[in-house]
Amino acid sequence: MCGIVGYIGNKEAYPILIKGLHRLEYRGYDSAGVALINRRGELSVYKSKGKVSALEHSVDGKDTTGSIGIAHTRWATHGEPNEVNAHPHYSMSKQLALVHNGIIENYKALRAEMEKNGVVFCSDTDTEVLVQLIEYVQHRHECGLFEAVQLALKSVVGAYAIAVLDKAHPEQLICARKGSPLIIGLGTSDQGAHEFYLGSDATPIIEYTDKVIYLQDEEVACMDGSGALEIVNLANVRQTPQTVTLQMSLDELEKGGYPHFMLKEIYEQPSAMRTCIRGRLDIVDKDVLLSGIIDNKEKFLNARRIIICACGTSWHSALIGKYFIEEAAQIPVEVEYASEFRYRNPVIYSDDVVIAVSQSGETADTLAAIQLAKNRGAFLYGICNVIGSSIARATDSGTYLHVGPEIGVASTKAFTGQVITLFLLGLAIAKEKHTLSDEMFHMLVDELQRIPDKMQWTLDHNPNIDQFAQMFTYCKNFIYLGRGYNYPVALEGALKLKEISYIHAEGYPAAEMKHGPIALIDEEMPVVVIAPKRGMYDKVVSNIQEIKSRHGKIIAVVTEGDNTVSQMADYTFVIPDTRDCYVPLLAILPLQLLSYYVACAKGRNVDQPRNLAKSVTVE
Ligand code: AGP
Ligand code: GLU
Repeated sequence: MCGIVGYIGNKEAYPILIKGLHRLEYRGYDSAGVALINRRGELSVYKSKGKVSALEHSVDGKDTTGSIGIAHTRWATHGEPNEVNAHPHYSMSKQLALVHNGIIENYKALRAEMEKNGVVFCSDTDTEVLVQLIEYVQHRHECGLFEAVQLALKSVVGAYAIAVLDKAHPEQLICARKGSPLIIGLGTSDQGAHEFYLGSDATPIIEYTDKVIYLQDEEVACMDGSGALEIVNLANVRQTPQTVTLQMSLDELEKGGYPHFMLKEIYEQPSAMRTCIRGRLDIVDKDVLLSGIIDNKEKFLNARRIIICACGTSWHSALIGKYFIEEAAQIPVEVEYASEFRYRNPVIYSDDVVIAVSQSGETADTLAAIQLAKNRGAFLYGICNVIGSSIARATDSGTYLHVGPEIGVASTKAFTGQVITLFLLGLAIAKEKHTLSDEMFHMLVDELQRIPDKMQWTLDHNPNIDQFAQMFTYCKNFIYLGRGYNYPVALEGALKLKEISYIHAEGYPAAEMKHGPIALIDEEMPVVVIAPKRGMYDKVVSNIQEIKSRHGKIIAVVTEGDNTVSQMADYTFVIPDTRDCYVPLLAILPLQLLSYYVACAKGRNVDQPRNLAKSVTVE
């Protein structure tokens, strides 16, 4: 999921690789490393935890010569961020070195098989399986690196972009991809010789060449020092590469062509959710596989109660999780603001399960809340995005989101990732407790699998939010309303608008409006209503009537094909139909876009709004 750089040509590789890693720093990462083959044919790997500058420091005085090399910034998914787990990884004989972006789903089975046959592993990563497997195949089939990579990848399930070096072939750099991007840059050195650059995006390449080839899924490429390039698919059929000319500036490239990280992260949600679900939702056997739950089954089966502690957006996702876990698994769930929980004297039983939900895994209040729960003997479970973060380490077990680094301060893909993870958790417990009928369970599993596609549909079918948003820049207040699963969506929609546009916004359960907030409604007040054609539709329609008769401006999120609300509303966003519980995953998308475009229209600093930090490590 993070960054890859590679080079083969007649220049010194190390400065190109390090500069490339710096270019990739914007993506967020936890460790970095580089592998080089020097002119004596020695293969060296240097790596370190933390920043690229720490790597440079640790390499000081070492041999960094050579004109072929690969480098990596890691965003850990399997195994803590430390030096051993950082990439590149050696094969057992240290003949090969490999870097990898992505997740290998069947790494446990592959590792067990090789261990049985004497292969010794030294890291906790899924990645090491790849390099060991390639070497294993090389020995078994007595073949060269190019062929071994093709054969090895045939038995791999998951997502990867890889680059591999073989000490025995210092004239070859091999790379391959499936599900994770990889780009080959075609360069020409001062002496007119061909050279190749490699990048997980174009940022490390652009200053050397604008001629690139986007490697396609299941393609393996061999870049030769003589300038030859061969691309084959996993069936060893030769592919004809298409060279394209890059048109973007470096700044645009970093954001994947989007003007802000937040917009990129909003649009990334379908693919990020696929990664979040990958390997956890078994659509064939209709199962949910969360190792954190499997390993601690008894804790969840015997839990008197679940308490979820979180802050901000994570608190909103926790609220959706509560509704679902109570409904599906029949366990009482309390959702607490971590900052409140830590300073009162809460009742905590030793058979409580306390879940911390945190994107960063570093939020001071959430960390303190779980420390309190730990002291009272509760079982702690973490739902974090950042691997090896303080909360991930402080909890007894947990599940990572796997949605990739979130750079924009306003949380978007981490929110939807948290909601999906909480659904997976609820489903996994429900399965163990038999609290859902098989039919209902299968339906929920199947529908969850379809959610990333429905998210994509939602993003594709709500154009012009940017123009529509212009009309609201003058507003001083907004109200967001939703019922049931969509009440937390109203809260989250309002928070997004507040955070980045600095417009005051409040979220309410729709029926609460008549108990006070209705006094605020007049022709100046935009009211965003989440009104899917589901469960409490008729009741929400009545709430919309109440607003309409007081001349409020209605912006409604409706199910595709709905005419009733569409006719009453001043503006509608459409979402495809889905189960009630999954509506939040779709309904939040236009609301994220609305806040984004209102903030842009007001000229706000969207990615770094005033007074806010990405990770709140102080009280
Ligand atoms: C989200 O948009 C906010 N920036 C903020 O509310 C955030 O969700 C909160 O600070 C919690 O952060 P965490 O998930 O990293 O613990
Ligand atoms: N899954 C790999 C690991 O945890 C690669 C992570 C990445 O994409 O940076 O090491």
